[in-house]
Amino acid sequence: MCGIFAYHGPKKNAPEMVIEGLKRLEYRGYDSWGVAYKKGGEIHVHKEVGKIGDFDSKNLNFGSSNISLGEVEDQYEISMGHSRWATHGKVTEENAHPHFTEDKNIVIVHNGIFANYLEVKKELEAKGSKFESDTDTEVIAHLINDYCKKHSFEEAVDKTCKRIEGRYAILVMKKDRSCIIAARKGSPLIIGVGKEENEFFIASDIPAFLPYTNQVNYLDDNQLVQIDKTGIKFFDMETNKEIEKRTIEIDWTIEEAEKGDFAHFMIKEITEQKSTLTRAINQDTNIIEEVAEAIKNAENTYFVGCGTAGKVGMVGEYLFANIAKKHVNFCFGSEFSNYKHFLNDKTLMVCISQSGETADTLEAIEIAKERGVTIVAIVNVETSTMARISDMVIPIKAGPEKAVASTKATTSQLAILTLLAYACDGGINKGKQLLINTAAQINDMLNPRYEEYILKIAEKIMHVESMYIIGRGSNYPIALEAAIKLQELSYIHAEGFAGGELKHGPLALISEGTPVISLVPNDENTKEMISNTIEIKSRGGYIIGISPENHEVFDYWISVPDTHESSPIVNIIPIQILAYQLAVLRKNDPDKPRNLAKSVTVK
Ligand code: F6R
Repeated sequence: MCGIFAYHGPKKNAPEMVIEGLKRLEYRGYDSWGVAYKKGGEIHVHKEVGKIGDFDSKNLNFGSSNISLGEVEDQYEISMGHSRWATHGKVTEENAHPHFTEDKNIVIVHNGIFANYLEVKKELEAKGSKFESDTDTEVIAHLINDYCKKHSFEEAVDKTCKRIEGRYAILVMKKDRSCIIAARKGSPLIIGVGKEENEFFIASDIPAFLPYTNQVNYLDDNQLVQIDKTGIKFFDMETNKEIEKRTIEIDWTIEEAEKGDFAHFMIKEITEQKSTLTRAINQDTNIIEEVAEAIKNAENTYFVGCGTAGKVGMVGEYLFANIAKKHVNFCFGSEFSNYKHFLNDKTLMVCISQSGETADTLEAIEIAKERGVTIVAIVNVETSTMARISDMVIPIKAGPEKAVASTKATTSQLAILTLLAYACDGGINKGKQLLINTAAQINDMLNPRYEEYILKIAEKIMHVESMYIIGRGSNYPIALEAAIKLQELSYIHAEGFAGGELKHGPLALISEGTPVISLVPNDENTKEMISNTIEIKSRGGYIIGISPENHEVFDYWISVPDTHESSPIVNIIPIQILAYQLAVLRKNDPDKPRNLAKSVTVK
């Protein structure tokens, strides 16, 4: 949520590099963007409202200062940028980052929330500060500037960080200093170590600098980094001491993080499910066995996640009940604090997250850790905050997921939970075999003919006002997840229900032609699902059946392989395709749904 990218190094086109880096981070926020550039003893800023999209850096305009890019002036160039997902203040140029102080001394970009900013703003206004924007970020810039009156730049940033209540990642530049300072608490910041001397990148996510380097340093909470012509220095803000950092090599490739020949990241990532599932299954089974054992021994286990990852956790509750005959609890990250009285050192928390940076889930972990709970993370970004603060980590190995709507990470997470449920029942090999067969059948299913077949139904329903999805058992959370996918991609009202629940109220919403997607795997719920579907059809509903069988009640049948306990995995894939196609047909951006951003680092 909000993309940050900065460059310090000998290349003489720093702002252009920052623009390209921001484009690779745009999935994190696309309300507005901006770039700051240090040149000629001044800091210059260019900001715009809207997506950075195809912006050509030749059109960069740093105003009256009329500086030309590429002119060699300093030994090293410094530039930083930001793409915004609005929290405080509307989507306007004034509220776009970077934010200056009035005297143009300090400039800052920020990801996160400064919870106590109003109190600090009043204090600064009383001292004479004038604010141009409605953002909490501008207050941080002013606070640093205020501390600079009596302290060094480094001390001023450190003191400011100590006053911020909330989660943040900030990058700061000062007019008379050829350096960049960054600090974080709760929001991600990763340092890319460039190939040239004193060349460094700072970004919210690795894909931003992958074309230049795969060598990284992770900044942890309450740490500050300073980069200048002498190199890089890390500090612990709690002890005020300099610290050493290990450089880690990342195994993501630039091809994985680029669209290639695909029209959008979303369809690329849907297609990648031909191989991602296999990658999730074919990993070290020791960690799966270890976590399964921990679930068996725990007095209480909570599966925790948000949004789609939350729905995966909910599927997990059913998988454990059916396969392992073991009760586990599911809870959304944002609701987890309600369970705090039941947590102790015999509790296990299994967190599910693609990014490993979701604030609500991280906060749930903090609550659990305070009470001695053991934490397991099922994550895609192995080097994320969540992975680093957890006791055990199961990586899902899906590769970079850049479309805002999660697809390949979802099915890989589902595969891991299925495997865990089998392992908990003592049958990990049985689970593995089931998933290997499922992966092979998905490989056959995902082809252009299948997509064309789903396109026909997308064209038929593209103008409807509402649609509904029903499922039972482990496919009930899949109906909820299907609704998320359809809402965020098509902007059509979509809701998921448990098949048996319609007659208790929502059946009143069905009228002639209302599309209802019915998830009907071959399992113990098939008969009831068919009865529920008939009830809808009798009220005029138009039935799109997702099933291995073409049941008579279906008006349109989307065939999926019969994969038994792993039916949630195969059932969500045609809905991902349908949601993608609806977005394209309705001229929505499938990779960047309105009002949303990937990696939600605010509460
Ligand atoms: C929807 C979607 C979101 C995420 C949620 C959690 O398609 O992707 O609902 O699932 O924001 O994100 P992670 O998995 O990164 O914790």
